[in-house]
Amino acid sequence: MLPPAEKRFLWINKITIVSLFLLILAGGVVRSTGSGMGCPDWPKCFDKLVPPTEVSQLPAGYEEKYIAGRQAKNERFAKTLDRFGYSELAEQIRQDESILQHEEFNAAKTWTEYINRLVGAVTGFLLLLCAVFSFTFFKTKKRIFIWSIINVFAVGFQAWLGSIVVSTNLMPGIITVHMLLALVIVGISIYTYFKARALRDKDLLINHTSSGIKWLAALSLLLIIAQIAIGTGVREEIDRIASSGDAPSRSEWLDRVGSVFNIHRSLAFVSGIAVLFLFFVVRSRFARNTYQSRFTNLLLVLLVLQIISAVMLAYFDIPPFAQTAHLVLASLLFGTQYYLMLLLGKTAR
Ligand code: HEM
Repeated sequence: MLPPAEKRFLWINKITIVSLFLLILAGGVVRSTGSGMGCPDWPKCFDKLVPPTEVSQLPAGYEEKYIAGRQAKNERFAKTLDRFGYSELAEQIRQDESILQHEEFNAAKTWTEYINRLVGAVTGFLLLLCAVFSFTFFKTKKRIFIWSIINVFAVGFQAWLGSIVVSTNLMPGIITVHMLLALVIVGISIYTYFKARALRDKDLLINHTSSGIKWLAALSLLLIIAQIAIGTGVREEIDRIASSGDAPSRSEWLDRVGSVFNIHRSLAFVSGIAVLFLFFVVRSRFARNTYQSRFTNLLLVLLVLQIISAVMLAYFDIPPFAQTAHLVLASLLFGTQYYLMLLLGKTAR
């Protein structure tokens, strides 16, 4: 029997992980529908807690007000970048005229971005609860407590980065950092969940693990992370091409992306082989009902779905729903692969 305080932590931690994936889904919808600028200010939306649904509800002269606010914020951000030695990027932000352009009001886009922010706020609150409840491990497993606290800071930083994404009018490099940090936060939550469970549930650790299988799991995880980072690069290129002056049609986007897409496609092949190999090795060593087997099955299903979404992107002119699916599946692949690596990495004493 688990002590109630530990049970409570595990429960909240599990909900937080689900909420984090929902947040990635919401972020993906925002991106693929181009709703990122649906709320021109942050954290409120058009200066309201509940955003408007019609143009007539917009505050008078809002365009100038938000552009001036954004300009001041970007100047502060550029100064910080200067201080850390990123003068080139700082200059780019100062010179970027698109940052000052304002978008016509569109209620659907505003509400899409608003729902994304609501899911974000709930997730932030859940991470805070995790940190509070993790205190129960302060003596038995301090790491759980420490990482839960770190995650609250990470999500605070992520929220700030979100505001920069808005004020720099969705600047590509910053979006990538935003995406990778989201995976770090997911990773920490999965880690604390695993550590808390492994403390009492020794079945979780029934293992026949040789060091070979552990390395294979680690290698496969690294390949997925590299694949995600490169995929985000493909996405940035596509965003750049889509918003470029001559505005090519969707069917031309991929032809213009260049070598980063070829690398992404080739690495997917290597990554797929690693997952398949892991699948067969785990199948040959673990009973069907073990966690290790179940998570390897899940990994394979996610990989197949990811390939389907990739085919849609590559051969059906990058439909928006496939963009979102590809992003969410990539983060699920990361989460599953990471949990599997933790499961394979330890043996019950
Ligand atoms: C293990 C397999 C794969 C993973 C983990 C993965 C991951 C990713 C990620 C994270 C992105 C960025 C999404 C975003 O920021 O919205 C992306 C973009 C992309 N990937 Fe993959 N990918 C995989 C396989 C493939 C394959 C096999 C292809 C094509 C044959 C492909 C084509 C693309 C395209 C076209 C984009 C740009 C999509 C967009 O503009 O939204 N991917 N990928």
